[in-house]
Amino acid sequence: MEIQLWKEILTPYELAVEELTLKFRHIMKEYKEADLYSPIEEVSGRVKKISSILEKAQKKNIPIDEIEENLQDIAGIRIICQFVEDIYDVVDIIKSRSDMRVIGEKDYISHQKESGYRSYHVIVEYKVETIKGHKTIPVEIQIRTMAMNFWATIEHSLQYKYRQGIPEHIRKRLNAASEAILKLDQEMSSIHGEIMDAQNSFTVKANIVADILNNLQSLYKVANKREIVKIQDEFYRIYQIGDLDQLQKFKKELDIIAEGYRAQVAR
Ligand code: GTP
Ligand code: MG
Repeated sequence: MEIQLWKEILTPYELAVEELTLKFRHIMKEYKEADLYSPIEEVSGRVKKISSILEKAQKKNIPIDEIEENLQDIAGIRIICQFVEDIYDVVDIIKSRSDMRVIGEKDYISHQKESGYRSYHVIVEYKVETIKGHKTIPVEIQIRTMAMNFWATIEHSLQYKYRQGIPEHIRKRLNAASEAILKLDQEMSSIHGEIMDAQNSFTVKANIVADILNNLQSLYKVANKREIVKIQDEFYRIYQIGDLDQLQKFKKELDIIAEGYRAQVAR
C-alpha cells in the first residue's frame, strides 16, 4: 500500500465544499434580490476530518486505499430550510442543475430512522478542477428544517458523549423530542402560507423604503433642498399610514421626479 497523502487527497473535496457552499448561498441571494421567498434558509459545509474518515473506514471494513471509492460523505453540504415543503423545492433545484448529478437519495422524512432522525439526503457527483487536473467526486447534501436540525445536532452530541451507546432513558426522551419536532414542523406547515405572506410584505416594504430614502438622498444633493424636505415630510406621513399601495405609488412618483433631475443634469 502506498503512503496516504491526505492533504493531496482531500484538496478536491475541500474545493467542492467551498464551491457548492458558495453556489447554494448564491441561490438564496438571487431569491432575495428578486423579492422572492428563498426555500434555503442557511447553508454550511465541511470536509470530514481524517480521524473520522479512518474511524468510519474501520467500522465499515473498508481498506484504507479504497476509502475514496467507498465513502460518499467526505464532502458534505447541509442546507437548512424553514418548512418541510421547502426541502422538496431544494431537491428539485438540485435535480435541475447541470453542474451536479444525483446518484443517490435517501428520504428520512417519509421514512424516519429508528433513532428519530429526519432529513433528506442527496448524493451528487460534482466535478472540480485542481492543478492536478479534474476530478469528479461524490458530495452528500443533507437537507432539513431548522427543527430537524435542532434535534439532529443535540442527538449527535449525545452520540458523541455516550460512545458506547446512548442510555435507554435518554433515548426515550430523544424519541419524545423527535415526535414533538415532527408535530412542530407540521404546525408550522399549516401556517406556512400566512408566514410567507408576512415575510414577503415585510421585504417588499423594506425595499420600497430603502429605494425612497436613496432617491431622496441623491435628490437632496442636486435639487432644491426645501422642496426635498417637503417631499421627505410627505414620505413620513405616508409611511405612518402604513399602507403598502400608497407607499408604492409614492415611490413611483419620486422615481419620476428623480428621473427628471437626472435628465436635467445629463443635458
Ligand atoms: P453513516 O455511516 O452514519 O454515514 O450512515 P450511512 O452511510 O448509511 O448514511 P446515512 O444516510 O444513514 O447517514 C449519513 C449521515 O446522516 C450521517 O453521517 C449523519 O450526519 C446523518 N445521520 C444519519 N443518521 C443519523 C442519526 O440517527 N442521528 C444524527 N444526529 N445524524 C444522523
Ligand atoms: Mg454516510
